[in-house]
Amino acid sequence: MNRMKWVGGAVVGLSMVLLAGSASAVTIGFSQVGDEGDWRPAFSRDMQEEAKKEGIDLKFADAQGKEENQLKAVRAFIAERVDAIIIAPVVVTGWDEVLKEAKDANIPVFLADRDVDVADKSLYVTRISADFNLEGRLAGAWLAAASKGHCDIVEEQGTTGSAPAIERKKGFEAVIALFPDMKIVKSESGDFTTDGGKKVMEAFIKATDGLKGICASFAHNDNMQLGAIQAMKEAGLHPGKDVLMVSVDYVPAMAKELAAGEANASVELRSAIGKYIYPVVLDYLKGKRDFPKWVKIPSDLHTQYDAQ
Ligand code: AHR
Repeated sequence: MNRMKWVGGAVVGLSMVLLAGSASAVTIGFSQVGDEGDWRPAFSRDMQEEAKKEGIDLKFADAQGKEENQLKAVRAFIAERVDAIIIAPVVVTGWDEVLKEAKDANIPVFLADRDVDVADKSLYVTRISADFNLEGRLAGAWLAAASKGHCDIVEEQGTTGSAPAIERKKGFEAVIALFPDMKIVKSESGDFTTDGGKKVMEAFIKATDGLKGICASFAHNDNMQLGAIQAMKEAGLHPGKDVLMVSVDYVPAMAKELAAGEANASVELRSAIGKYIYPVVLDYLKGKRDFPKWVKIPSDLHTQYDAQ
């Protein structure tokens, strides 16, 4: 009986080793933007945890917000002959050459989160991400309703040249353009950081004599809005009451601000998206080819009511 148990255990143990061995045969290089804000590190953690669950050997490269670091990382992945490459690109431009090198080396590339602007779309398999333009439209639609279509807005833009900064602005502007009494009166980049958002808001406060006549702050991410909230409070203003505060990400710190009444709305950008990304990459490696060029992840709007 004991001998039977031992034999059974040994067989199970051996098959687990074999399974782990075969699963770790998949090696993926992931070039991440950096760790700005609260959303990005949550996304990095999720990618690492999901890779573990899937038995993927993930080579993680943090570009610290610099595209040149990403280009180096992708070239290193190509030299290592990884099975696939995932890129969350800092900015949309400058990708044609390195993507061509990956294609020539027969290594499939997948875009996660942010987009690239390349003439030849066959240089990557697909992009798996939320719709940043929709996020901007949701923020604009919420503000149009909350202000009844009358609003002078200050805007904190994300990293210049990045897909979320470009698309969130476009989406937001497309909606407010439907309302003759809604307009952006000041707009600056805060580079998606809390510090950046604080500095930009301090400048807006100065330039408008304490946000006189300003009805809303639209920030391309929560961290810049969190910085803006600090700047406003230091100037004796009441964010969420004197000025409507709408942003994107719905990170836990913003949920707290919504519940406390110092912010009004945030469009959620999901960070647990490894479960959407890896199945696409693994299916490709198993031979599937009919992917849409964009696998969309849903976005939801949150207000003070559901944050509570
Ligand atoms: O690309 C997504 C954006 O990048 C997030 O909204 C922002 O927080 C991050 O820096």
